Formats: sequence, structure tokens, C-alpha cells
Amino acid sequence: MNRLLILFHLLAVIVWIGGMFFAHVCLRPVAAAQLPPPQRLPLLAAVLGRFFTVVGWALVLLWGSGIIRFAQVGAAVPASWMAMAGIAALMTVILALIVFRFHRAMLAAVAASDWPKAGAAMNTIRQLVLTNLLLGVLTVAVAVLGA
Ligand code: HEM
Repeated sequence: MNRLLILFHLLAVIVWIGGMFFAHVCLRPVAAAQLPPPQRLPLLAAVLGRFFTVVGWALVLLWGSGIIRFAQVGAAVPASWMAMAGIAALMTVILALIVFRFHRAMLAAVAASDWPKAGAAMNTIRQLVLTNLLLGVLTVAVAVLGA
């Protein structure tokens, strides 16, 4: 049962961190190099919308499996678990900021064909996604090396 929980946990991690890596390192730079803003920004806004929906489900798995393991172990929780949950909480807050503030602003600007505003929102999203990507790598390192 525990192995199954860890499987779900790791699948969720792969979706979230792998998706951020792909978006930041592969998709956005090529889109920026090849597409003008009126084509690039609607594309990126829609891609991000789909990604955030999937990540929402991944978060349910991630937090659900993690909290169940915490509950199973009780009071004697290893420090690396606490660090993992703490950094993951920060990442979750940053994700909420991206989704509910900057991605919404980007969608509204795209709908109004306001490309400077949509581009500015995308730029903030890019920086916050990079922050979460680095925190995600740190979390994996803490989880694996601290295990
Ligand atoms: C992006 C966020 C997260 C990442 C990258 C992450 C990564 C990992 C990894 C790689 C492991 C396997 C460690 C090993 O056994 O070598 C793990 C295990 C674990 N994670 Fe996370 N985790 C995240 C979020 C969370 C959250 C939010 C919680 C708690 C609410 C949590 C609780 C746990 C627990 C309790 C285990 C140990 C499972 C066990 O050994 O039975 N994690 N995590």
C-alpha cells in the first residue's frame, strides 16, 4: 500500500515538475523565437490553461498521498519530510498566484488583443514558473537525499 502511495506521489511530481521543465526550457523559447505576439500569446495562454488543470489533479494526488503517509507515521516524522512539505506548500502558493492572478490577467488581455499586457503577464508567469521549477528540484533533492 505504501509503495502504491509513493507511486501516485511520484507520478504527480513527474507531471508537475516535468511539465514546468518542458514549458520553460522547450516550449516558450521556441514559441518566442518563431511566433509573433498575436499568435504566441493565445497559444501559450491556452497551453498553460490545460497544464494548470492537469496540475490541479496532480496536486490532489501529491498532497493526498503525502498527508496519508504523514498520518500513518504519526509523531516521528523525519525532518526531510517536513522540509519537503514546507517547500511544496510554498510552491503551491506560488502556483495559486500564477493561476488566479497572472494567468487570469493574461487570458483577459489575450481576449482584448492587448499584447503588451498579455506579454507582461506571460513574463511574470515565466519567472514564477522558473522559481517553482528550481524549488521543485530542491524538493526532490531534499526528499531523495534526506530519505
Ligand atoms: C513538489 C513537491 C514534492 C516533491 C517534488 C516531492 C518528492 C518526493 C520524492 C522524490 C519522494 C520519494 C523519496 C524517497 O523515498 O526516496 C517523496 C516522498 C514523500 N513525500 Fe513528497 N514531494 C513533494 C510534496 C510532498 C507533500 C506536499 C507532502 C506532504 C503533505 C509530501 C510527503 C511525502 C512523504 C511523507 C514521503 C515519504 C513516503 C514514504 O517514504 O513512505 N511530499 N516525495
